Amino acid sequence: MKVKQLYTPITMENNKNIKLFKLKNKNKISIEITNYGGRIMKINVPDKNGQLTNIVLGYDSLKDTVNGDPYFGAIVGRYANRIAKGQFKLNGKTYQLKTNGFPNHLHGGETGYNAVVWNARQEGNSLLLSHTDPNGHEAYPGNVKVQVIYELNDNNELIITYEAVTDKATPVNFTNHAYFNLNGADSQTSILEHHLQINADYYTPTDKTLIPTGSIEPVENTPFDFRKAKQIGRDINENHEQLKFGNGYDHNFVINGKENELKLAAIAVAPLTGIELICYTTEPGVQLYTANFLNINEFGKKYAPRTAFCLETQHFPDSPNKINFPNTILYPGNVFKSKTIYRFGLKN
Ligand code: GAL
Repeated sequence: MKVKQLYTPITMENNKNIKLFKLKNKNKISIEITNYGGRIMKINVPDKNGQLTNIVLGYDSLKDTVNGDPYFGAIVGRYANRIAKGQFKLNGKTYQLKTNGFPNHLHGGETGYNAVVWNARQEGNSLLLSHTDPNGHEAYPGNVKVQVIYELNDNNELIITYEAVTDKATPVNFTNHAYFNLNGADSQTSILEHHLQINADYYTPTDKTLIPTGSIEPVENTPFDFRKAKQIGRDINENHEQLKFGNGYDHNFVINGKENELKLAAIAVAPLTGIELICYTTEPGVQLYTANFLNINEFGKKYAPRTAFCLETQHFPDSPNKINFPNTILYPGNVFKSKTIYRFGLKN
């Protein structure tokens, strides 16, 4: 299948400001990030035999990356996830965004934060990325100044912090779209045998276009119950309407605990390599996406569906249209702040 190019891609050839940065810690972990879309290109961690293994999907070169766009490792915004039919009302005005994820608006539109070249500055083991998203871009209101910091520390944590301000009220929702395979991305193996625990008693079921219905449902007695670790694949093929809509897991979980407080979101382990990933966040939700729609690119590597999982920490999809969901409107004078930590380890 051909990738539908919705916009003129930025390439390394036509943009000399695209660079690759490397963060390292004293435990041999290294992370490569490009300022094109703020994409995490590689996360190299030792497996149980001490073998360094890259655990995120991506392309071999920046050149491939800029040509294909499945959001591999990218920063997603201005509004990560979906807004129903691309519409929301704010201060009495209806805004119509592009419906690039037909029939909905997806991941900030055709030229979201995954497709911009961020200003970048490395300070030791931190990479500071900043971007000014202009008023009217992708039809969103207000000039939004965003800063994203990636920091790798010696506790084997990748700390991602997001900060944003605006000069007009606007919805905002930021995430990182890393596709993890803890067997190693190059193994191209399925992630269905990975064990996953999600710290969520509730999730937000969707309609068939993956827009939340607005109801917040208990995970109990559903395939969405990850409160105790289980294999990702254990229930994925159950005869459950929600799994049909997502073609697998593509759902937002309501993380137990208080919004704005750092809390455990999920723990994933690959028995084969012993590599463990623990995710903490101040966000109220996490989208578990089992890469059901992978396979969509013909550039560089070709990855089959379910050879990765994403833990996209976020506010809930379509929040601007759901009054019972945590607020996603940022007002002038306020500062949006959030933090997500991916911690890498080993589990026997
Ligand atoms: C996920 C989304 C999926 C799919 C994917 C990108 O965040 O939930 O439905 O759009 O991004 O291919």
